[in-house]
Amino acid sequence: MSYFRKKEIDPTVHQQSKLKKELKTFDLILLGLGAMVGTGIFVITGTAAAKYAGPSLIISFVIAAFSCALSALCYAEFASRVPIAGGAYSYAYTIFGELVGWMTGWLVLCEYLLANASVASGWSGYVHGFLEGLGIPFPTALTASYNSEKGTYVDIIAVLITLVVMYLVMQGAKKALRLNNVMVAVKFGLIVLFLVVGIFYVKPENWTPFAPFQFKGIATGAAIVFFAFLGFDAVSMAAEEVENPQRDIPRGIIGSLAIATILYIVVTLVLTGMVPYLQLDVKDPVAFAVRFIGHDLIAGVISVGAILTLLTVLISMMYGLTRMIYAIGRDGLLPKTLSKVDSKTKTPKNATILIGIVSAVLAGVIPLEQLAQLTNIVTLMAFAIMAAGIIKLRKDYGQPLVNEFKVPFVPVFPIISMAVCFYLMIQLEVKTWIAFIIWLVVGFCIYVLYGYKHSELGKMNKK
Ligand code: ALA
Repeated sequence: MSYFRKKEIDPTVHQQSKLKKELKTFDLILLGLGAMVGTGIFVITGTAAAKYAGPSLIISFVIAAFSCALSALCYAEFASRVPIAGGAYSYAYTIFGELVGWMTGWLVLCEYLLANASVASGWSGYVHGFLEGLGIPFPTALTASYNSEKGTYVDIIAVLITLVVMYLVMQGAKKALRLNNVMVAVKFGLIVLFLVVGIFYVKPENWTPFAPFQFKGIATGAAIVFFAFLGFDAVSMAAEEVENPQRDIPRGIIGSLAIATILYIVVTLVLTGMVPYLQLDVKDPVAFAVRFIGHDLIAGVISVGAILTLLTVLISMMYGLTRMIYAIGRDGLLPKTLSKVDSKTKTPKNATILIGIVSAVLAGVIPLEQLAQLTNIVTLMAFAIMAAGIIKLRKDYGQPLVNEFKVPFVPVFPIISMAVCFYLMIQLEVKTWIAFIIWLVVGFCIYVLYGYKHSELGKMNKK
């Protein structure tokens, strides 16, 4: 049995790839921000403040950002030393061998599928809120995932938007990303608008009690708002389409993460300063806060903006995911047809269609809260594997070269990274853990029954 057979690091892979190499640092920072800033800040922040952390949610953000920053460093070193599309999956494959590589890929696949679905679901919430505001009726049965008490069956808007994004991503990276860049600008404009208006209505007394549920609440809050940072790893997944991956990928990851962190902390401070935290458990907290202070028109602008810009998160997520499936299919661990590149658009068309349909189904039938928690647990596990991977990378391949990115203080930083990931994981519900374990078992079975036999690496080793 060779479950631990490994790929070699091949520096020529970047040149051999059939994908177009046209992305630069700036595109990557925007790709990162496009993927990150979304449902997390626009929807989940409100619930997390109201239910778990109160105004101390800003500390939760710092903890989550700290965890992501450590992981980002690991991703950056991998991205600069192992420049192959596929992100965490490819790195783990190279370092720990095929089984761990596949399981990591399986976790990240789940992360992106669920995150895609979560964002589509959050997006649909804003659309419904907006339609209600205009007095446009919508059949209740089609407004949310299945819930017999509320009489809802499927979230049809979430399903439709996922399919539209699938179509956009199929048209090629540059086209989808061009739209993404414009939307990132709109998203920033909205947040600035919110801050400029909101700051004058901040009442410092709303910040007391600062931590109503003590440190337990802050820690649970961190495990929940961790969601808001997901997506920065989409940058490393684009390695094969980047002009100069050694230089641009680390810059793209760290740049976008730093900007997002500052933004989240400032938005949370203003939000919890404007509205007593207990009232923030609504589906559109940012727009709600502006309505709360009586600026209905500006609240409307923010709603429309959020509706437009959450699309960027979907585009970036789906983009990253299709690239990963492409890489897994190319290695033979999933059917080869998934890595077929369309001759006209130069994108992995079949992989995109599969992802689009599965995400659309998940978005239609599973509630947002469950989607987000499960997304976080699988991602934290993948991050922990990446941190362990850096220690092994150094052991097997030595220190990075002068022009490559280097994680400082190895093994201390990766060990802290693993500890923080596990700490955040144990804050999540038992229900989430059960689903997580089932996902791992299913992934393991797919590998043993399909991937192991069809692996390209396995075939090469037999020759
Ligand atoms: N980070 C992404 C968001 O907040 C997933 O929507």
